[in-house]
Amino acid sequence: MLSTIGKIWVVVTLLCITAIGLLTRPSWSLSAFYRESSSCACRKCLTDGDPWFGELISGAPKPFLSRKYVTPEGAFNWWKHVQNEGRPYSFFNTTVHNLFQIFPPTPPFIESSPSRCITCAVVGNSGNLKGSHYGALIDYHDIVIRMNRGRTKGYEEDVGTKTTHHVMYPESAINLGNTTHLVLFPFKINDLLWLLRSFTPRENGPVKTIANKDLVMILNPGFMKYVHENWLGKKGRYPSTGFMTLALSMHMCDEVNVFGFGADRDGNWNHYFEVLRNKNYRTGPHSGTHEYELIQQLHEHKKIQLFRGCRSQ
Ligand code: C5P
Repeated sequence: MLSTIGKIWVVVTLLCITAIGLLTRPSWSLSAFYRESSSCACRKCLTDGDPWFGELISGAPKPFLSRKYVTPEGAFNWWKHVQNEGRPYSFFNTTVHNLFQIFPPTPPFIESSPSRCITCAVVGNSGNLKGSHYGALIDYHDIVIRMNRGRTKGYEEDVGTKTTHHVMYPESAINLGNTTHLVLFPFKINDLLWLLRSFTPRENGPVKTIANKDLVMILNPGFMKYVHENWLGKKGRYPSTGFMTLALSMHMCDEVNVFGFGADRDGNWNHYFEVLRNKNYRTGPHSGTHEYELIQQLHEHKKIQLFRGCRSQ
């Protein structure tokens, strides 16, 4: 028979053992506590801390078009001046409606949540990738986003081999494999019509597929306006493909690492896969200097990590 003191001792001991057990369970560890109070499941999440950054991100419209989303007329009116689009808002809406008879009604990506931890490599086309040996590092990310005529064949050591997403528009389009998401950046209604045509079977002969139709995503023109105004303070005629891709990645990823951004010594946007012919190109209609300054600021604020590559050219 146990005395009363003995019984109390046994109960207290059992309570202590239970408490130690609970506190040392993985879900009760300190890191898990922080994870539970955090916006994602990574060690560090993009949207944690820094109110200015939180505000910048939360002010964004839907990044992608979908069957139910309607681009506001104000955003359309801004967008139609980017490349002198003459056709009306109603024609734009009909075209978008037709697109979603073919493509996934909602964009195929995982929405942000406290249980998501997605690492992304955003790969621009800068010549600074040449000789960088970043290939393995780039391939290590869950998502690897490339753009325009950015290629891997022959450049694997420096740029890697993996492409989960490829951003393009008709003038910069390349054929993609069956597992790569085609991310269309439409600059005019013709770009949307081009996408429709590219996936519509022709009467005489099979359709030449440029990508898997179930992996097509279309940037919302309103997102371009938002990047132009909220990120770039209206500098440049409109944001570059690379800068918009970086802003977009903030909505698709929890950790963003950036490669292949930065002009050559003369201030030209050169490419790792070709010799620059037009030495007066600079950064085209984009505010390349301002965009690069912002990228550096994001790096300093530890929102992204910028890998600067080799600035030998
Ligand atoms: O030249 P292209 O538009 O295909 O390059 C993709 C993106 O990479 C650009 O829109 C720009 O943001 C970025 N870039 C850069 N520095 C370079 C070349 C491209 O920052 N030298």
